[in-house]
Amino acid sequence: MDLDWGFVPINDVSDRGIQDLTFDGLLKEPLKVHQDGGAAGCGGRLWPAGELLSRYLIRQAEIPYRKIIELGSGTGLAGLAVAVGHPEADFELYITDQENLMHLMEENIVLNNQQQRVKARVLNWGEELPEYAKGADLILAADCVYLEFAFPLLEKTLLDLTNDGTRVLMAYKKRRKADKHFFKRIKKNFDVVEIRDFPEYEQFHRDVVYLFEIIRKTPPLKP
Ligand SMILES: C[S@@+](CC[C@H](N)C(=O)[O-])C[C@H]1O[C@@H](n2cnc3c(N)ncnc32)[C@H](O)[C@@H]1O
Repeated sequence: MDLDWGFVPINDVSDRGIQDLTFDGLLKEPLKVHQDGGAAGCGGRLWPAGELLSRYLIRQAEIPYRKIIELGSGTGLAGLAVAVGHPEADFELYITDQENLMHLMEENIVLNNQQQRVKARVLNWGEELPEYAKGADLILAADCVYLEFAFPLLEKTLLDLTNDGTRVLMAYKKRRKADKHFFKRIKKNFDVVEIRDFPEYEQFHRDVVYLFEIIRKTPPLKP
């Protein structure tokens, strides 16, 4: 089945089984994603911010990064979209999440035949940064701002992962007023700039789904 999501919220399409996604024909070779309906945690299904980030990354003319880390990757959607959408690009790409999502991410890597370029790894926010994650020049995060208790953990991981030369792209769906606490916190050390120059901007904006570039201030301040 080749699903064109259009702007139907992803969750209303289907939340379990394997689907072929082309993002309305943006991908010539469909991205295959197995969702478990949330059985392994909320990351086991697709979320609209992940769709936004995937579309944005697929559309990039090139991916000039050497090491890419996706945080809270869930099914691996955005990271795998980069890999499938840019078959010639030369990078190391790690899709990361908590232990309970590893099997789903590994399955999705295999479904897309990306074992050579994409690795699934545990990366628990707030914990010491694993060795493989050091030196990344592109950090991706989709729909990771939703648990208030995890805000300081995510902030710490962003601080640990970034320096002057690191690009952070975060897609975010606004759900709760409390989310503003996360953005207030991180503004001590980062500038948060909304990205608007993509064709689906108005549609996603209507669904309160945004894309931000998060830029480390220099010199870094302590959290
Ligand atoms: C709403 S889901 C988004 C999944 C995926 N990025 C997407 O857009 O479809 C949030 C993800 O963050 C992960 N997550 C939550 N707390 C985390 C933590 N402390 N460390 C690592 N990942 C975490 C969850 O396991 C889940 O996969």
